[in-house]
Amino acid sequence: MAKPGLEVRPIGGFIGGEVRGIDLSCPLSAQTCRELRAALSRYGVLVIPDQELTMEQYVRLGEAFGELEPNDTLAHPDGFPQVGSLIKEADHVTSIGDMWHTDHTYLERPMAYTMLRAVDLPPHGGDTLFLSAKAAFAALPDAVKETLRTLKGLHSRSYLIRDGKYAAQFLAERPPQGGKIGPNKTAVHPVVTTLPETGEEVLFINPGYVVKFDGWSAKLSQGLLDSLFEHCLQPEFQFRLRWRENTIAIWDNRQTWHFAVNDYQGHRRSMQRLVIDKRGDD
Ligand code: SIN
Repeated sequence: MAKPGLEVRPIGGFIGGEVRGIDLSCPLSAQTCRELRAALSRYGVLVIPDQELTMEQYVRLGEAFGELEPNDTLAHPDGFPQVGSLIKEADHVTSIGDMWHTDHTYLERPMAYTMLRAVDLPPHGGDTLFLSAKAAFAALPDAVKETLRTLKGLHSRSYLIRDGKYAAQFLAERPPQGGKIGPNKTAVHPVVTTLPETGEEVLFINPGYVVKFDGWSAKLSQGLLDSLFEHCLQPEFQFRLRWRENTIAIWDNRQTWHFAVNDYQGHRRSMQRLVIDKRGDD
């Protein structure tokens, strides 16, 4: 008898699927990996509860999805430089990722997936919000879609430098390696991209990193960017992940935004992140 496939239950109307009936501590078969990728293309974010993995198993799981991006900005657990530690200590005010963004779109070749697991959670709060930029694009009028297909966006890592006071506190709480923030990184990407796995179009801009349209002034860009961001931020396109111990989430950066809610002052939150470049051959 054929083994039943993955059990994936939709969480939100447009985004988010919860995966059950899988043990990620075992190496994934090629079939399971294909099914997980297909579910990711469909749901944008997969939430996989009750997975108690060693660090080796967690890294192996990330590698099953593609090549891990070297982590050159965040602290890491001993012996695992590819794992980024996202930590807010109880006496910190700032946190990592508390703005709507898509991971690392300022790179020439943006990273396809991010995997995150909860290590230490506050007693309440510390959720992550996700949003479907695929559903947001689909809901736009045809004439707007047509215009957006002609545009490119300038993505820049400079948000830390942009927001002066918060940035100073952020850097005081997490001094960068070598004492300085590395050089800025920028990239230009089409505003509308196509998911290679499904052929669906996505609005590939995000408030964290897109500073303007290529060839437009910042001032002229701002009006259209603000309207598009407001359109994307409609609650219908979102879902909220309430973390539990041993939950693993993996998301497709090519079709989602996320926001780590900083609402747990006085408590520690510690997460471990893998950023993953999809291999070209699968
Ligand atoms: C991130 O922005 O990559 C981190 C999200 C989180 O910590 O919830």
